[in-house]
Amino acid sequence: MKQIAGVTDIVIGVDLVSISRFKRLLQKFDTNFTKQIFTLYELEEYGHSIQRLAVRYSAKEATSKALGTGLAHMSARGIPSTDIEVRTQSNGAPILYLYGRAEEIAQAKQIQIMKVSLSHERFYAIAMVSGICL
Ligand SMILES: CC(C)(COP(=O)(O)OP(=O)(O)OC[C@H]1O[C@@H](n2cnc3c(N)ncnc32)[C@H](O)[C@@H]1OP(=O)(O)O)[C@@H](O)C(=O)NCCC(=O)NCCS
Repeated sequence: MKQIAGVTDIVIGVDLVSISRFKRLLQKFDTNFTKQIFTLYELEEYGHSIQRLAVRYSAKEATSKALGTGLAHMSARGIPSTDIEVRTQSNGAPILYLYGRAEEIAQAKQIQIMKVSLSHERFYAIAMVSGICL
């Protein structure tokens, strides 16, 4: 296969969330659980919208797949969900921020650029994440 100069690998992750299942998950647990999943910024900015929270949860799962770890509340070697944050740029496009272990793993894998794309409607939310290792 043709190589792109400087690029050693490309990582991707995708995740689909059912809005109704996500809603039930949040209702089942207390607000501490919500705080374990979302950063304060995400709760303040998107807490009013179940779709926007669900799509950000989807982005966290997709990022954890791209990093090859999974999330902490799903697997023992997973990373904390709050290490992954999705914000909104002035043009409306989402932007991914990594902290803590997520940032460490990205650095260890030499992932220099990571991008996220989101889509949501009444029933489903989907996120796709890609990264380039240089
Ligand atoms: C951006 C756009 C394609 C979103 O499509 P949609 O069917 O309305 O909504 P979707 O559920 O598929 O996507 C919503 C997500 O799109 C993302 N989005 C919004 N503006 C975006 C942009 N300029 N670039 C990339 N992603 C964008 C956001 O993450 C949003 O989710 P959020 O509000 O929870 O953060 C549509 O609003 C549009 O065409 N806007 C005007 C033109 C534009 O900005 N185009 C640039 C993208 S090619």
